[in-house]
Amino acid sequence: MDNIELIGKIKKLKKEKNAIILGHYYQIDEIQQLSDYIGDSLALAEQSRKVDCDIIVFCGVHFMAETAKILNPSKKVLLPDISASCSLADSCPASEFAKFKAKYPDHTVISYINCSAEIKALSDIICTSGNAEKLVGSLPKDEKIIFAPDRNLGGYINRITGRNMVLWNGACEVHDALTADTILRYKQQYPEAKVIAHPECNDTVLQVVDFVGSTNAMLKYVKNIDVKQIIVATETGIVYQMQIENPNKEFIIVSNSGCNCNDCRHMKMNTLEKLYSCLATEKPEIIMNSELIEKAKAPIIRMLEISKSLNLI
Ligand code: 13P
Ligand code: SF4
Repeated sequence: MDNIELIGKIKKLKKEKNAIILGHYYQIDEIQQLSDYIGDSLALAEQSRKVDCDIIVFCGVHFMAETAKILNPSKKVLLPDISASCSLADSCPASEFAKFKAKYPDHTVISYINCSAEIKALSDIICTSGNAEKLVGSLPKDEKIIFAPDRNLGGYINRITGRNMVLWNGACEVHDALTADTILRYKQQYPEAKVIAHPECNDTVLQVVDFVGSTNAMLKYVKNIDVKQIIVATETGIVYQMQIENPNKEFIIVSNSGCNCNDCRHMKMNTLEKLYSCLATEKPEIIMNSELIEKAKAPIIRMLEISKSLNLI
C-alpha cells in the first residue's frame, strides 16, 4: 500500500471506530498531519483526560500512552509500536529509585512525566517541561525536593530558581548528546540566528542559547520573534509545525554527528503502516492494573490542578 492509500484507510477506520489520534510534535510529518490533536506532553495529558471517543491512538512513546490510560482508564488506548520507549524513562528503574527515595524520607518527590507508571506511583507531583519551573516555584522555598529522572531539567530548574533539589542521574540520549561546542559552531555559521533548546539538553548547551522551553513553548517563541533564521536544539520532528506556522523563517536543526538530523529513535518507531495496523486490529493496547493506575494518577492530577490554577492549561 502506498502512503496515499494508507492515509485514506486510516481516516476511514478512525471514523468507523470512533477513534481519536493524539500526536506528539516529534512524530513523523504524516502522523502529525493525521493527528486530531498535536501537542507537548502537558497538552496531550490534558487532552487525553478530556477526549470523547472509544479509542485513543497515542502517537508518541510508551510513557505518554500510559499516561493517557492512567487519566482515562475506561478508554482503549493504543500505541502503534509498543516498543517505542524513552531513554530518559528507561534511565530510572523503579526498584533503584525506591532505594534512592528511601535515603531522603522528608523530601517531596517531583517526577518529570518522562518516567514509567511505577515511578509516577512513587512520586508526589508530576511535572512536564512546560510547567516544571512554575510548579516547583509554587512550593514553599524551604521544601526539600527530589527531582527525577532528568538531571538536566532538574539542574536547569535549580539554577533558575535558586533551589537545591536532589537530582536523579538520568538523561535523554537525544538531547544530552548535544554539546555547547556544536551550538557555538552553528552560531558562527548563522550569526543572525536565534538559538532555542529543550531543557533536556545539558547545562553547557542551555547557557549558550537564547531561549529554553518545552516543545510548545519553543513553538510560541519562534512565532513571536522577528528573525529569519532559528537554530533548533531539540528533536527533528518539531520543525514540521514550526515551518507550517512560520513559512518565511528558516529552521536549522542542530545535530552532533555529521548527519543533518536529530531523530529520537523511539518517537520514530511509529509509522503509517503501524498506525493503520493498530487501528485495524486494535492492538497493541496499553494494559495496566487498576491499583497501579490509581497510585500513578494522584500525582498527575495534582500537576494538572496546579497547572490549571497557574493558567498553564
Ligand atoms: P515536551 O513535553 O516538551 O513535548 O517534551 C517531551 C519529550 O519527550 C522531550 O524529549
Ligand atoms: Fe525520550 Fe529523549 Fe525521545 Fe523525548 S527525545 S521521547 S526524552 S528519548
